[in-house]
Amino acid sequence: MPTKKQTIGWIGAGRMGYEMAGRLAKGGADVLVWNRTKEKAEPLKKYGAKLADKLPELAARDIVFCMVSTWKDVKEVVGKLLDGKAKPQMLIECSSISLEGSAELRGMLDGKGIQYLAAPVSGNAKVIKAGKLSFVCSGPGDAYMRAKPYLDMMGKGSSYVGEGELSRIVKICHNVLLGVLTQSLAEVTVLAQKAGVPRHAFLDFINQSVVGSMFTRYKTPAFVNLDFKVTFTPQLLRKDLDLGLDAGRRFEVPMPLASATRDLIQSMIGQGWSEQDFATLLLQQAEASGIRLKSENKEVGDGLS
Ligand SMILES: NC(=O)c1ccc[n+]([C@@H]2O[C@H](COP(=O)([O-])OP(=O)(O)OC[C@H]3O[C@@H](n4cnc5c(N)ncnc54)[C@H](OP(=O)(O)O)[C@@H]3O)[C@@H](O)[C@H]2O)c1
Repeated sequence: MPTKKQTIGWIGAGRMGYEMAGRLAKGGADVLVWNRTKEKAEPLKKYGAKLADKLPELAARDIVFCMVSTWKDVKEVVGKLLDGKAKPQMLIECSSISLEGSAELRGMLDGKGIQYLAAPVSGNAKVIKAGKLSFVCSGPGDAYMRAKPYLDMMGKGSSYVGEGELSRIVKICHNVLLGVLTQSLAEVTVLAQKAGVPRHAFLDFINQSVVGSMFTRYKTPAFVNLDFKVTFTPQLLRKDLDLGLDAGRRFEVPMPLASATRDLIQSMIGQGWSEQDFATLLLQQAEASGIRLKSENKEVGDGLS
């Protein structure tokens, strides 16, 4: 636990970064936020966050969090952050990126004497609002202990899995499971419906069963009422399946289900379903099964509120 309150810099106010920085600000942290599209971050001011006009302004903060999209974007923003003389004491990188990217980042930061914690997350923006985000962390143990009070402000907990980039492979495995699980849920939901079971009734049972989870519960409203407002884009999920398949090749692990799911996500993107949530895998599965789904207009809980 740090003896003094740390000053926090926050890079990236997208769907995830906005809610995460918002929780820190609401919890009383001293947060300075920079987002490429500044307007998106403006509402964070009402929670007490300050906004930076230029990214290097964040370099004078004690701890800087980063939540952007891909490794290429992380490299770009961290490069700009460290362009001047000032440097933070620690960088906590939360985007879902590759092991190799994370190791390259560690090399860049080690060379400048900046502590680095790799801390990707599980949960979407709604999960963050409900206080249920979780982190998986790797890097020096003392960096984790220093970051922990701030991680705790953003969610329900964090797991420390060891040194180096170990958290990256855990997160990649998690998102491979997320993709495969969603496709599998789409298949059995369409199967049950074609056999005559309404989706809300089928999912009510699944959610109460031993295979129900926070994830199946919070995807239920989308599956029942076909509300596919984006929480996580098909492109970002495809990136994670690709990271999983790359890791599978590197470690010589066959991943037949991940491979098939990656291609189904690609087909969905190819058909133009890229602006909606990745749960549109359900619609693709229905079309492949010769049915067109309609909203069931049922009030179903998401298990979060
Ligand atoms: N959404 C989820 O459910 C979820 C869950 C767990 C993990 N993740 C991971 O979390 C990360 C963020 O996801 P998200 O859903 O929040 O994505 P998002 O809504 O698309 O937000 C992306 C953020 O990154 C910024 N950005 C991207 N490229 C940039 C660049 N080159 N320079 C500067 N800023 C850049 C964007 O700035 P602008 O606003 O200017 O575009 C925006 O703030 C991804 O790695 C994703 O895989 C997402």
